[in-house]
Amino acid sequence: EHAPLIDPFARPITYLRVSVTDRCDFRCTYCMAEHMQFLPKKELLSLEELDRLCSAFVGLGVKKLRITGGEPLVRRDILTFFRRISRHLDSGALDELTLTTNGSQLARFADDLAALGMRRINVSLDTLKPEKFAAITRWGRLDQVLEGIAAAKRAGLRVKINTVALKGFNEDELFDLIAWCEAEGHDLTFIEVMPMGDMGEELRLDQYWPLSDVRKAMAERFTLLETEETTGGPARYVRLQETGQRIGFITPLTHNFCESCNRVRVTCTGELFMCLGQEDAADLRAPLRASADDAALIEAIRAAIARKPRGHDFDYSRTGVAGQMSRHMSHTGG
Ligand code: GTP
Ligand code: 5AD
Ligand code: SF4
Repeated sequence: EHAPLIDPFARPITYLRVSVTDRCDFRCTYCMAEHMQFLPKKELLSLEELDRLCSAFVGLGVKKLRITGGEPLVRRDILTFFRRISRHLDSGALDELTLTTNGSQLARFADDLAALGMRRINVSLDTLKPEKFAAITRWGRLDQVLEGIAAAKRAGLRVKINTVALKGFNEDELFDLIAWCEAEGHDLTFIEVMPMGDMGEELRLDQYWPLSDVRKAMAERFTLLETEETTGGPARYVRLQETGQRIGFITPLTHNFCESCNRVRVTCTGELFMCLGQEDAADLRAPLRASADDAALIEAIRAAIARKPRGHDFDYSRTGVAGQMSRHMSHTGG
C-alpha cells in the first residue's frame, strides 16, 4: 500500500535494527563505561509503541527486523513483544525476525524464541577463556553464555558468533575461536572495533586490530575462498577450504561497506539513526505519542530516510572528535 523506503543514494531500506533497552547485564569495555547512567522507564518506548513502530516499518517494506540493545533479553516482557511482532512472519510481510544478544539469558529464552519463528541469532563472544571474558565484560560469566549458546543450538536456532577483533586481547585465540565454531557448527564473524563511546587513554586505538591483518593470519593456515554469500548485513564472507566453515568480516575501517547499506536503527527512546557512524537522528517518539494514527509517524520516517548520509566518518587517523563518536554503542545497538 505504501511506497517502499529508498534513500537519496538509491539504496532500498529493508533492514531495521531496533534497540529495546539501553541496559545490559555486562559492561563490555569497548561498548559501555563501567558506571552507566541508564534511562528512566518513561523515556523508553513501551512494548505497544515498539510494536507500532516496527509494524509501520514493515508496512514500508522492511523485510528484516533485528532486535538489539543494550541486552534485549533483559527487557521485561520482551517475549510478549516478540510473540506479537512475529505475526509479520506468519503473514509473510517479514522475512526474518532476529536478535543480537550477549547470550547471558539465552538458556531461559531459546526454546520460546525458536517456537515463535526465529531461525537464527547473533551472539557476541570475544574470548573462550573465563578470566578474559570476565575482564572484557567487566564481570560476565563465560559458562553462563556458553550454556545459552548450547541451549540455542538445541532449540534449533542457527548461531552466528560475533567477535570484536582486539589486538593484545584475542589475537592469540584466533584459531581457537575458529576451531570451536567449527566443532559446534556456528558461523563466526569478526568485527573491527569502532571508535565510539569513552575513548579514554587511547586504549581503543591500541586495541584496534585491522581485519586485513586477521585475514592474513588466517591465510597462513587456511585457504580462504571468496564468496558472494550474504546474510543481509554488512559482513563479507569467506569459506575455509579445509573445514568448509563460513567466516565473516565486518570492516567499517579497512573496507567501507556503506555503498550497499540497507539499514537504519532505532534507539530504545525512539530516535531513528540513519547511520551508526553519524550524529543525525530523527525523533519518532513524538509522532508515536502524539496520535494513535500512524500518518505522522510514517511522514517522519520518510523525511528522515530522505536525509540518510552516504556513509560513516569513522577514522582512527583523525584525532579529536572528527572520526570518533561519543555516543556509546549500546545507545544504537550496533
Ligand atoms: P546478519 O544478519 O548476521 O548479517 O547481522 P548483522 O551483521 O547485520 O548484525 P549484527 O548485530 O551481528 O552486527 C554486527 C555488528 O556489525 C554490529 O553490532 C555493528 O558493530 C556492525 N554493524 C552492523 N551494521 C553496521 C553499519 O551499518 N555500519 C557500521 N559501521 N557497523 C555496522
Ligand atoms: N566496535 C565494534 N563493535 C562493537 N560492539 C559493541 N561496541 C563495539 C565497538 N565499539 C559489538 C558487540 C556486539 C555488537 C552488538 O556490537 O560486540 O557484537
Ligand atoms: Fe552489553 Fe553487548 Fe554492550 Fe557488551 S557489547 S556491554 S554485552 S550491550
